[in-house]
Amino acid sequence: MFERPRGTNDWGPDDMAKRRFVESAFVRTAESFGFREIQTPLFESLDLFAAKSGPGVVEELYAFKDKGGRDLALRPEFTASILRFYVAELRSLPKPVKVYCYGPAFRYEEPQKGRYREFGQVDVEIIGGATLPSDAEVLALAVGTMHAIGLTAIRARIGHIGMLRAYLPFGPADQAKVLHALDKKNFPMLDEELARLQRPELADPLKRLVALHGDASVLDQAKDLLGGKGAEAFDYLRALAAQLAAYGVSPAEYEFDMGVVRGLDYYTGMVFELDSPNLGAEKQVGGGGAYTLAEVFGGEPVFQTGVALGVDRLVLAAEAEGVFGPPQRIDAYVVPIGESTRSRAVEILTALRAAGLRADIDLVGRGPSKNLDYANAAGARYAILVGERELKAEKVGLRNMASGEQREVPVGLLAEEIRKA
Ligand code: HAM
Repeated sequence: MFERPRGTNDWGPDDMAKRRFVESAFVRTAESFGFREIQTPLFESLDLFAAKSGPGVVEELYAFKDKGGRDLALRPEFTASILRFYVAELRSLPKPVKVYCYGPAFRYEEPQKGRYREFGQVDVEIIGGATLPSDAEVLALAVGTMHAIGLTAIRARIGHIGMLRAYLPFGPADQAKVLHALDKKNFPMLDEELARLQRPELADPLKRLVALHGDASVLDQAKDLLGGKGAEAFDYLRALAAQLAAYGVSPAEYEFDMGVVRGLDYYTGMVFELDSPNLGAEKQVGGGGAYTLAEVFGGEPVFQTGVALGVDRLVLAAEAEGVFGPPQRIDAYVVPIGESTRSRAVEILTALRAAGLRADIDLVGRGPSKNLDYANAAGARYAILVGERELKAEKVGLRNMASGEQREVPVGLLAEEIRKA
């Protein structure tokens, strides 16, 4: 009858359990780092994203007019909204402001596995901290979230867009176009832009620069390539790496990569991307770095840095690494034997739920053996058989669904017995 819009997904119970697992690993990690949750609207005025997100993202916006004729867009990410909120209302909080949020974001992209038009992001931002410790904190949070999920194949690629901006002798609009070509590694587009800007001689060093990646020695090679320009950036990255060690981020988990340009326009300093090398084409599970948006939105200049990770891709990465156990099961499935026991069965069910157990009951009126089949299919750990005769002694049958063992247990001890197992 109706089809889902292209690039969207329905998530069934097993999918949702995985998505919530990933989100809660993020929330736990962010809270342990002292971040606090905020929420911003799902749609914003179009200008907010058009201002500074860059050509890549603006082309992908879901933009529309509302009935009042206002130009709006579904959020393609959180950072612009958070900085709008910061400038308008959060400015007076003690610095640094450390906030997190998560939820769906929307980009009109060509869908494929791991790339959707509606996707989940988790995001943190630090506003008003000192540069180096804040960048290190954000990187450690991103890697820490992947650890908390149970991922071991982690590759952070760390670069510095400040050094590229310092090297490119163009105004912001032209710089954005050149950076866009470099981000996409689209060298014909790069040649074209540099020809248009009458600086074709920059093509060769730029192509060689963005190909540089590896250990700290690439920082020296990059410095040579740029004729000593942007030297502070390379020293900065070395100092950053030293901090990462203290956070327990292993050198095997990151490399320097001069080709990290990022698809969004607001970055000005350290930038990084996180890969899960097990995934195919869409292996980039996260990205972030230092940026300037508060100024653009009318605030005072403060240091801003953050990261977002893609929930869909983290789930795929966790599946690829076999992180997920069997789907979550219910603890107890209550089977009333005969209509006369139904009220008592519901009381027992309610007591189990109140005791914090996941408990369910027959809603169809099946016979006991059909009910046991259902309990089995639903993955219940226990079936509780509520029979008239047993109830007279305030007892029920407790059946272990895995072993098939069944015994009588006093109603008052039921929750404890199930929890003990
Ligand atoms: P981003 O690199 O555009 O950065 O997105 C972050 C992550 O969101 C990506 O690495 C990817 O995992 C996921 N993602 C993006 N687009 C899609 C898609 N179409 N389908 C599935 N997943 C996707 C940002 O959004 C910045 N706001 C990050 C940031 C925060 N920078 C500073 N603070």
